[in-house]
Amino acid sequence: MGTGAIIDGKAFAEGLRGRVAGAVAELVRDRGFKPGLAVVLVGEDPASQVYVRNKAKQTVEVGMHSVEHRLDADTSQETLLALIAELNADDAVDGILVQLPLPAQIDSQAVLDAIDPAKDVDGFHVVNAGRLATGGAALVPCTPLGCLLLLKDRLGDLSGLHAVVVGRSNIVGKPMAQLLLGANCTVTVAHSRTRDLAAVCRQADILVAAVGRPEMVRGDWIKPGATVIDVGINRVPAPDKGEGKTRLVGDVAFAEAAEVAGAITPVPGGVGPMTIAVLLRNTVEAACRRRG
Ligand code: GUN
Repeated sequence: MGTGAIIDGKAFAEGLRGRVAGAVAELVRDRGFKPGLAVVLVGEDPASQVYVRNKAKQTVEVGMHSVEHRLDADTSQETLLALIAELNADDAVDGILVQLPLPAQIDSQAVLDAIDPAKDVDGFHVVNAGRLATGGAALVPCTPLGCLLLLKDRLGDLSGLHAVVVGRSNIVGKPMAQLLLGANCTVTVAHSRTRDLAAVCRQADILVAAVGRPEMVRGDWIKPGATVIDVGINRVPAPDKGEGKTRLVGDVAFAEAAEVAGAITPVPGGVGPMTIAVLLRNTVEAACRRRG
């Protein structure tokens, strides 16, 4: 059995960031404004702190204006909504991102829906979700849009291909299915209650795994030659590396899957690096649309 090609998301994301930096430089030179991104973090979740730091760093690296708001874990919903209202009204802010998950006392969807849809660079507002579903000019969630860019780069036209999305979250699974439908795929959305998940996955020309279960998708679930996109980022114990050590794995058993797939994204270095690059791209798009 041959070995599938490895899809280098890190390199693609670097290229995309370069293109975003070029667009930002043009906006500054020709239009006299710098797109701005505000990131809001509530609490001290270590993984979220790393993401927020990387977002701010890369925002500055592509030449954009970066604003960071860090609020205590016991912040009330009212305080957070007041900050969102301020950012909605701030003309220097083109994009607003509230890092998820939020603490339990806060209703996440209420907060996401308080963001001006024109500044909703995560694409989580109900208006943007609705526009994506109805073919309108939506701001699209970053991770699934990054997956679509990788797929189009690899496969070109996706028309008529059978795509199976495993996972139905609002952040990845549902918008991924909408994007693939928009690209003329035949789309199946599978999830934890799907019967004979392996057989469903075996039908896929494109398999997107976004379930958050380490190495759940096995090599024999994959149709020979299929393109496999692994959205999972799971930290698991790695006793071979020493006591207490961990490593990152995806939702797909990579070594097995790579034997069967035509192409596959690794973890890390596949979908992960795409998310922030697309966020920066969405911010430029929001700035251009909002400022006309
Ligand atoms: N937490 C995990 N992924 C994301 C994301 O794409 N956006 C936000 N805001 N929070 C997240």
